[in-house]
Amino acid sequence: MRKRGFALALLLAAGAGIWPAAGQNNEQLGQRLFDVMSRNNPEVLPGRRVNHAKGEVFKGTFTASPGAAALSKAPHLQGGTVPMVIRFSDSGGTLTVPDRAEPVHGMAMTFLLPDGSSTDLMCLNMPVFVSATPEDFIAFNEALQASPPGSASPTAIQRHVAAHPETQRFLAMLKPMPESFGTASYFAIHAYRLTNAAGERHDVRWRIVPEAGELARKPEDAAASPPDALFEEMHGRLDRGPVAFRLQVQVAEPGDPTDNATIAWPESRRIVDLGQILVTAAVANPAEAEKPIGFLPGKELPGLEPGNDPFFAARAAVYAVAFRARNP
Ligand code: HEM
Repeated sequence: MRKRGFALALLLAAGAGIWPAAGQNNEQLGQRLFDVMSRNNPEVLPGRRVNHAKGEVFKGTFTASPGAAALSKAPHLQGGTVPMVIRFSDSGGTLTVPDRAEPVHGMAMTFLLPDGSSTDLMCLNMPVFVSATPEDFIAFNEALQASPPGSASPTAIQRHVAAHPETQRFLAMLKPMPESFGTASYFAIHAYRLTNAAGERHDVRWRIVPEAGELARKPEDAAASPPDALFEEMHGRLDRGPVAFRLQVQVAEPGDPTDNATIAWPESRRIVDLGQILVTAAVANPAEAEKPIGFLPGKELPGLEPGNDPFFAARAAVYAVAFRARNP
């Protein structure tokens, strides 16, 4: 993509003006969520993210598959190729976390649309979330903070987990270190609603699946891996060519919950392939490049809207606070 085009792409992905006005309560919730995340890690550096701090931006493209338009009239699902901004990350607020030490990884992306607008997906390598509501997520983080090493058992976090089977499920699903960011699957977790040109609507969940297959490292290889192993591996992999993923949706059936991020739909639900994502290149000065970039999971587009999960509003609010905090 020409230099000017990508600079424009970065500007477009750069949260400028994309933050919806949050109602007072939601703004307060956003601030509370930001404050509890900030307390997880007193080392947060100015201008850096309080969560998913360790990450890197890449360029990419998305090409819709012929069948995508049957599910949605959204511009990027009508065929053709659109440019993308993609950021891979380790969860948590510590910039220096060794990749082997963080089992949760992020893949956040912006699809840049022909009319100058954009749409984002923010995904984790986990099909469900750790908490069912924003309030539970605050309680989970506060319990973590109240359980420093050496705390008497049962610690606050042990009590929290014991009282939240959904959190137990999440912890039981944590995955071993992947071979690469390019050999892990990612999930946007919340349910979205797609509408096609005929007005037919489907509740769906997005997933990003590596064309190379899901490959994990052996425990001994993971333990011996250098701190930035996944980022170094991604650079090496890109030297050999683009890194390919499939963009897919799982389609709900009547009765499947759309407002609870901790309950997965049965794997037997229909999966529709919507196209190919190609990670094509790293960007120069990644630490600078990522500052003005902000992602928003609930942006509406013709044919694509967020579902009724309470996290959409809470996340929009906390991301707005986070973006302003690192772009004062
Ligand atoms: C209430 C729950 C949540 C809170 C408080 C929260 C908080 C945050 C914060 C503060 C950031 C840094 C944002 C920035 O500075 O731009 C972040 C990044 C991120 N979050 Fe969340 N998050 C929540 C739920 C989720 C969920 C459910 C997902 C996945 C489906 C998710 C995926 C991500 C990803 C991928 C990033 C990295 C984005 C990037 O690379 O810039 N988060 N989160």
